[in-house]
Amino acid sequence: MTCRSRSKVVCECLKVTEGKVVEAIRSGRACTLRQIAACTEAGSGCNACGLPVSRVAGSSSLRPAFSASATLWL
Ligand code: FES
Repeated sequence: MTCRSRSKVVCECLKVTEGKVVEAIRSGRACTLRQIAACTEAGSGCNACGLPVSRVAGSSSLRPAFSASATLWL
């Protein structure tokens, strides 16, 4: 992941960046999309960001920390 992608906004409603999602997962505070929403607010608005947030969370470098079975907003 580059510095540029970390600043990329993945949730337009709440202006949540890719870096914030990554930080929530790497810190151990979030291992499901629901937990990512609780930690970052991503997905707390229109919910259209589920796919881009899932892509970030499911990236190969984060996969061990992220529950692949929890890729849907619950
Ligand atoms: S784009 Fe994330 S809640 Fe709307």
